[in-house]
Amino acid sequence: MSAPISDSVSPAPANAGRRQVLVTSALPYANGQIHIGHMVEYIQTDIWVRALRMHGHEVYYVGADDTHGTPIMLRAEKEGITPKQLIERVWKEHKRDFDSFGISFDNYYSTDAEENRALCNTIYAALQQAGLIEARDIEQAYDPVKEMFLPDRFIKGQCPKCGAKDQYGDNCEVCGSTYQPTELINPYSVVSGATPIRKTSTHYFFKLSDPRCEEFLRGWVSGLAQPEATNKMREWLGDKGEAKLADWDISRDSPYFGFEIPGAPGKYFYVWVDAPVGYYASFKNLADRIGLKFDDWVKPESKAEQYHFIGKDILYFHTLFWPAMLEFSGHRTPTNVFAHGFLTVDGAKMSKSRGTFITAQSVIDTGINPEWLRYYFAAKLNSTMEDIDLNLEDFQARVNSDLVGKYVNIASRAAGFLLKRFEGRVQDSAMNHALLADMRATIPQIAAYYESREYSRALRTTMELADAVNAYVDTAKPWEQAKDPANAVALHETCSVSLEAFRLLSLALKPVLPKLIEQVEAFLGIAPLAWADVAVPLSSGNAINAYKHLTTRVDPKQITALLDANRESLQPGAEAAPVVKAAAPKEEESFISIDDFAKVDLRIAKIVDCKAVEGSDKLLQLTLDVGEEKTRNVFSGIKSAYKPEDLVGKLTVMVVNLAPRKMKFGLSEGMVLAASAANEKAEPGLYILEPHSGAKPGMRVK
Ligand code: 2FM
Ligand code: ZN
Repeated sequence: MSAPISDSVSPAPANAGRRQVLVTSALPYANGQIHIGHMVEYIQTDIWVRALRMHGHEVYYVGADDTHGTPIMLRAEKEGITPKQLIERVWKEHKRDFDSFGISFDNYYSTDAEENRALCNTIYAALQQAGLIEARDIEQAYDPVKEMFLPDRFIKGQCPKCGAKDQYGDNCEVCGSTYQPTELINPYSVVSGATPIRKTSTHYFFKLSDPRCEEFLRGWVSGLAQPEATNKMREWLGDKGEAKLADWDISRDSPYFGFEIPGAPGKYFYVWVDAPVGYYASFKNLADRIGLKFDDWVKPESKAEQYHFIGKDILYFHTLFWPAMLEFSGHRTPTNVFAHGFLTVDGAKMSKSRGTFITAQSVIDTGINPEWLRYYFAAKLNSTMEDIDLNLEDFQARVNSDLVGKYVNIASRAAGFLLKRFEGRVQDSAMNHALLADMRATIPQIAAYYESREYSRALRTTMELADAVNAYVDTAKPWEQAKDPANAVALHETCSVSLEAFRLLSLALKPVLPKLIEQVEAFLGIAPLAWADVAVPLSSGNAINAYKHLTTRVDPKQITALLDANRESLQPGAEAAPVVKAAAPKEEESFISIDDFAKVDLRIAKIVDCKAVEGSDKLLQLTLDVGEEKTRNVFSGIKSAYKPEDLVGKLTVMVVNLAPRKMKFGLSEGMVLAASAANEKAEPGLYILEPHSGAKPGMRVK
C-alpha cells in the first residue's frame, strides 16, 4: 500500500460552537475504474464537507478502497498478479481520479490495512462476548475443480422457467423470473466450468435476530434524516414481535482475499464486514498521524458527529448491520446516514454502447473541467433519494449560461475598468450599496441549504443573486459611464459594487467550485473565503490582481469526444468497466417526443383463442384478431393471472409493430399490454388492458 496522502488536515484548537464531524463516502471496490455514477456521491459528500469546513468546524472526511472479496481475488488471478498488486494499482488510479475532481479526502486509505484487521478483530471479539455470534453448518454450491465455494453470481445455467441459456444463479435476464441457484438447469461454475456440487461448511453468523438488536435498531431508526430511509427500515424491521430480521452470514471459506477470523482457521470475514470498519480504519490511520485521540471520536460518549454518505442500494448494510455492529461492540453509532439516488445519462441507464458509461479518467482526458460536472450535479442534487439525470445538452447550456454568462462575466467586466482607471482598488463607500446588503443577508440561507443537502436550492438562490447583479450592471452601463471622465465616481462605484458582488457569489459557490474559487481569491488578493467573510468586504487598502480568464465555455466537440472515448473502451480486449448502479430514468426526466410515441403502433385486438403452453409455467399462447387478413400469434407471460378460457372473446390492446421474436415455443408476433406493480414481488398481480365497449379489432390506440 502506498503511503496515504493527507490533503487538508489542519487540526486547530477546539473553540465554542466548533463541531467535530467525521464524514465518509462509500468505499469503491478495488477492481474497477471510477465512473461518473460514483462521482455523484463523492461530489455530494465533498460539497457538504467543504461547506462545513467553511464554518470553521473540525471536519475529517475519510475514504478508502474496498479491497477484499471473491471478485477481486479472481480478477487478480485473471490478470496474473496478486490481489495486493491489483489493489495497489487501482488505489493509485482511484486517488488520481478523486484528486482531479477536487474530492478533499483528509485520508484515502485501504481496507487491506493492519488498522482494519485490528479493528475487525476487536469488534468481532466484542460481538462474541455479547453472545451475538453463532457458528452454524450450511450447505452451499461448491466448485470441485477450483475447490472453492461459489457465490450465486458465479453460477450460471439454463433458466428453469423459460430455458434460456447462460443465466445467473438468481434471475433470468430473458424472462425476468427469479429463482434459487439450485433450480438452474445444467448449472456450471463461471470460474472453472465444472458442475457445482453441494457441500457443507461451518459459517459464522451475526445474530441480528437477537431481540437486543431489534430493540436497538427500532430506537436508532427514529433519528434517520430521510423519511424514505426510515420507511425502508420500518419495512425491514416489521411490526414489533414479528421477528423479521434474519441473522447475517459474516464468514466466507478459504480461498478468499480478506482477513482470517481469529480462532477460525480457513474462515474469513465477509467483505461487507471489513468494508464499513474500513471507515474507522482510515480515520484511525489519520488520527494516529496527526495526533487525534481516535477513541474520543468513536466511543459511545463521543461528542463528535459521524455521517455516512451512500447510494440507496446499500442502505441495508449501513442502517442495520453497521449500527448494530457498532452498538454491540462498544462504539458510538452513526449520527446519520445520507442516501442518494442513481445517475442516468440522457434519461437512460449508463450504457457502454452509447458511450455514456463515462469514466472519471475520460472526463479529464477530453479536457472537460471536472468542476463543470460538480456544478451540474450540485444543481440537481437535493436531500432525497431521487435519481438524477445528466442531460448532456442541458449540461452544456447550464454551465455556459450560469458559470460563464452569469457569474464569471461579472468579474471580467468590472476588473478591466478597475485596473485601468482606479489602480485596481475598490471605492470603500460602494461596499454599503443596497444590492450588496441584500446579498449578504441571503448568504447564510445558502450556507444552510448546503448543510441540509439542498444543493439545487443553494445554486438556484445563488443564480438569482447573479441575475440581480447583472441587472444592476446592465442598468448602470459602465461602458457608457466610461466614455465621460465626469462620470468617474459613478463608474468607480459600479465596478466596485459588481466586484464585491462577485466576491459574495464566489463565497456562495465555493463548496461546489473549490479550484475556481481559489483562482478568484488569488485574483482578488484575499485570504481563503469562509462563511464569516460575508461581512468582510473588499477594501481600497488591497489592490486586485490582473484578471486572468477563470473558466471557458463547454465546447460541444468535447462532449462528442467524451462519448467517443467511452465507446472506444468497449473494443474487444479493453478493460470492462464495473457494474453501474444506475436505475430506470425518472419519469419527468425521460420524456419522449410525440413522434417517438407515434412509432408504437397500438391496436385493439380480439383474443380469438387462448391456450396454455406446454413446458412453460409462465406463458399463454394467444391468437389475436387485429383487423388484418390473418390472425397473430403472441406468447404472453400472463399465465399466473388468467385461465385461458377466461380470456377467449375479450378485447385487449396490442403492440403490432414490435419485431417478431422467435421463442422456444414458436414465433411471437407482437405483445399485449398488461399492468403490474413496480415491485412485482412485493405486490403480485397482472392485469391485461381492456378497452371500453364499442372498440373494434384493428382500431388504432393513440
Ligand atoms: O457497494 C459498494 O460499492 C461497496 N464497495 C461499498 C462499501 S461501503 C462501506 F461499507 F465500506
Ligand atoms: Zn427465463
